[in-house]
Amino acid sequence: MIKKGIILAGGKGTRLSPITKSTNKQLLPIYDKPLFFYPLSNLMLADIRNILIIVNKGQIKNFYNSIGNGSHLGIKIFYKEQVSPNGIPESFKIGKKFIGKSNVALILGDNFFYGQGLIDQLEELKKFKSGCTIYLKDVPKPENYGVVKIKNNKISLITEKPKKFVSSKAITGLYLFDNDVIKLTHKLKPSKRNETEIVDLIKYYQKKRKLNHIKLGRGAIWSDAGKIDDFTNISNFVTSVEKVQGLKIACLDEIAYKKNWIKKDQLIKNINFYGNCPYSDYLRKILKK
Ligand code: DAU
Repeated sequence: MIKKGIILAGGKGTRLSPITKSTNKQLLPIYDKPLFFYPLSNLMLADIRNILIIVNKGQIKNFYNSIGNGSHLGIKIFYKEQVSPNGIPESFKIGKKFIGKSNVALILGDNFFYGQGLIDQLEELKKFKSGCTIYLKDVPKPENYGVVKIKNNKISLITEKPKKFVSSKAITGLYLFDNDVIKLTHKLKPSKRNETEIVDLIKYYQKKRKLNHIKLGRGAIWSDAGKIDDFTNISNFVTSVEKVQGLKIACLDEIAYKKNWIKKDQLIKNINFYGNCPYSDYLRKILKK
């Protein structure tokens, strides 16, 4: 069972400069919400209510203005700074106290997951016992990601951004770990790009035969928002889906209300906090249902 989640929302965001000169990438909009709402919604859909958000130095205030301590959503949000982007596994050093003796899910703050079957696959967090579980997705450009090769339904190779084609199975930015992850992180050495690598951490679990994987099917959408074009593409996707369906993606207040984590009076308070905007109009409709 996993009851705690970390959202890693730091990084330089250099590929999005000059926009990221004045703000964090994960606060930038994907259609009508900040980018980090999307991974946060995934954790909430998996019933994770204890969440640590790791942000760049000096950025806690900006995230806090957006989401506070989470009490208005019936969740608990904690914040920590990452002084410089030393690698994704640093999340487990920074989050050591938060994790305590628990298992933990890590989701990258720039990852977008959506689609048919996703909720069922997030159920894995409830069933999780030990080891490491990664989520895989076939992608057209595997050279941009961590990639695995699978033989007899077992992962036989793990590599980061392979220059030569090894497989089209990318490692997405959602990882489930048991508590050993804290001590294993301390063993990692920085790579050529001078940061510790999440794939090296995953390799420890592979060696111990404790690595599991879940394949996201064709009905699942996954993308990371590393480049400006990703923002445009994901935003266009969210816009279309929301308009066609009349339903919002990653509406945190709706998730909290439907899960009964907040009552009507809190939802009304939230609407007043957001003020006059289409997001509030949508929540008013939810209230009437
Ligand atoms: O999105 C999935 C991919 O994420 C995986 O397939 C790769 O194995 C994994 O290394 C990672 O690749 P990226 O090239 O996307 O990593 P990037 O350096 O862009 O970092 C991903 C996010 O994590 C980004 O939003 C910034 C944040 N980050 C990254 C590092 C290295 C931090 O907050 N702190 C860090 O130290």
